[in-house]
Amino acid sequence: MELLQALENRRSTRGFKPTPITQETIRTILHAAGRSPSYTNSQPWEVAVVMGQKRDALSRILYQLAEAGTPSNADEPAPTNWPLDIAQRAKEHGARRFEALGVGRDDIARRNELRLMNFKFFDAPCVIFIFMEESLGPWSTMDMGIFIQTLSLAAQGVGLATCMQASLANYPDVVREFLDIPGSHKLLVGISLGYPDEDAPLNIYRSERKDVDTFTRWY
Ligand SMILES: Cc1cc2nc3c(=O)[nH]c(=O)nc-3n(C[C@H](O)[C@H](O)[C@H](O)COP(=O)(O)O)c2cc1C
Repeated sequence: MELLQALENRRSTRGFKPTPITQETIRTILHAAGRSPSYTNSQPWEVAVVMGQKRDALSRILYQLAEAGTPSNADEPAPTNWPLDIAQRAKEHGARRFEALGVGRDDIARRNELRLMNFKFFDAPCVIFIFMEESLGPWSTMDMGIFIQTLSLAAQGVGLATCMQASLANYPDVVREFLDIPGSHKLLVGISLGYPDEDAPLNIYRSERKDVDTFTRWY
């Protein structure tokens, strides 16, 4: 039951306290995530943990690129051709989030400010970048998804919170160069990690879900 409750409670957190996290705590989380299943136990995950001055410097670089409107050069480009129902859901997600924050449809400046918070890691003291060898295919990407979710749940288990962010993979060459990561390591996502600030306005919104019966066929 505790696990089911944890799954129900997990959410993307977009406001963190500045409280630092010890390396030991992060190691515990990564150990738990490393217990994830993977295709033939291949364990394709590669992880970079960034805190302190390095975190601040990288945030500044990514923020400036995003603020200047530099187009994304993501290793895994954003989907362009979504089926209608899925595209609709993504659109509604964005609209509901802004509505919950009282940000109007035409308030482009505030919307942009909120988008840019991604690159401040929502004030989290730690950001984790997740890489995978570029020659690997969809099976390994599936493994990576399991790893990332397990990491997120393990973080929750020690009182931390996360936000998985595709936006942090927009400028992979810059991240690789800054962290001295080999060019063959594809950047999948960044994950902001920290103690949640429950009172942060960005944490007001709680996302909705499809009902089980809308995505399940019973036989
Ligand atoms: C692969 C992936 C990429 C995401 N990228 C971002 C992002 O760049 N910025 C952000 O604020 N949230 C991002 N999210 C969070 C989703 O918006 C969020 O998971 C979804 O709306 C459901 O909300 P919940 O996680 O609070 O349940 C991402 C989630 C995933 C799984």
